[in-house]
Amino acid sequence: MEDGVVIIGAGHGGVQAAASLREEGHQGPVRLIGDEQELPYHKPPLSKAFIKDKEAKPQILRADAFFSGANIDLLLGESVKSLDPAEKRLTLASGATLAFDKAILATGSRPRILPVEGGPLKGMLSLRSIADARAIRELAYSVEDVVVLGGGFIGLEIAATLAASGRKVTVVEAQDRLLARVLPAAISSHVASRLTAAGVRLLTGTTVGRIDGENGHVAAVITSAGERISARMIIVGIGVVPNVELAAEAGIATANGIRVDQRMQTSAPDVLAIGDAASYRHWMTGGDVRLESVQNATDQARLAARTITGHDESYSAVPWFWSDIGDMKLQMVGLTGGSDRQILSGDPAENKFSVFHYKGDRLLGIESVNRPADHMLGRKMMGLGFTPDATVAAAGSDALKAALADWQSKQAAPA
Ligand code: APR
Repeated sequence: MEDGVVIIGAGHGGVQAAASLREEGHQGPVRLIGDEQELPYHKPPLSKAFIKDKEAKPQILRADAFFSGANIDLLLGESVKSLDPAEKRLTLASGATLAFDKAILATGSRPRILPVEGGPLKGMLSLRSIADARAIRELAYSVEDVVVLGGGFIGLEIAATLAASGRKVTVVEAQDRLLARVLPAAISSHVASRLTAAGVRLLTGTTVGRIDGENGHVAAVITSAGERISARMIIVGIGVVPNVELAAEAGIATANGIRVDQRMQTSAPDVLAIGDAASYRHWMTGGDVRLESVQNATDQARLAARTITGHDESYSAVPWFWSDIGDMKLQMVGLTGGSDRQILSGDPAENKFSVFHYKGDRLLGIESVNRPADHMLGRKMMGLGFTPDATVAAAGSDALKAALADWQSKQAAPA
């Protein structure tokens, strides 16, 4: 009898993989295993709308009826303890074993922990799951002072949200500018000035020297510069680590993530991996990456389902990402790491601009602040392999649209 596909992890990637298997015509059993009790939900709103509004409910990815209707066996509140790729069998924490023909590891990532001398303290929270978001929401409105550790997306989204609701928020960032891992200096300084104007205090080039507690609860952060900042709540947003342990213990190759090839296959036959947990050689840059985004998880899920249903295709999705920080919608497309020329379009003073990144005469990507048209056009252009002239990029979205249409009409024209 067919043992079917088992998907480990019921986040954005896992749920999409299950849905895509059915869309691709996979007839055999599909089991989706998630360690949370709740129906799988959207994660991006957790650092934004969900913590802003005490009544906000989780936004589920798919209704219960979807899973039963598509004959997807959803096992919630179950975690996989071990995996045997040779025997094609896994063991659940409950002790039960499950056989499979193919397995997809969609195990995601978890927040990096900041160890505290003397043990963990209440009021020190990080954000990944809906349970984390509930804990933040519950405490946030009974405290006055909040320290956010880490000036990345998670930290800044939460900092802006809590400052807007009247909390006194200080961000402590180790690098000399915000968002340094992911965005260029022009955007970092813009975000910094708007957050400062919104009342958020920013300490860059600063880390934590010590955390002081009082009756088991956080009371203050002592910075590396020796300043004491009172805080009844500390948000830790210092990055994530991929959940590779299950794969590594099963003997599957890992290197900053579970290694996968262009078809999402791991080093073990019949075991695939996708999403935050997977690292791979990127088709755009030729470098090894592990991307933490909903887009990457869901596009890789679609490809994994295609691989399992007998297609031989390579991952070639254009990466994109977004973040809402206060009154700034940040949207990113492409991978801009190796850029040698940056073109500014729009006006930071109006809180609407984009940075176009080029390497030689090739467009590597675009980062936009409140310029959704640039972002959408960027996704289209990069998907088609079209690079606009820098002068066109600087001229704005109407000029871009016209240049793209012109290029497309020439592509379509017979030689
Ligand atoms: N003290 C202060 N800052 C620190 C420390 C520290 N000890 N360690 C790291 N940092 C800073 C980093 O310099 C970086 O700017 O924390 C920031 C973490 O930013 P990210 O790596 O972008 O991670 P985070 O903001 O936690 O977001 C994790 O969640 O929003 C999603 O997928 C998105 O990749 C993102 C993930």
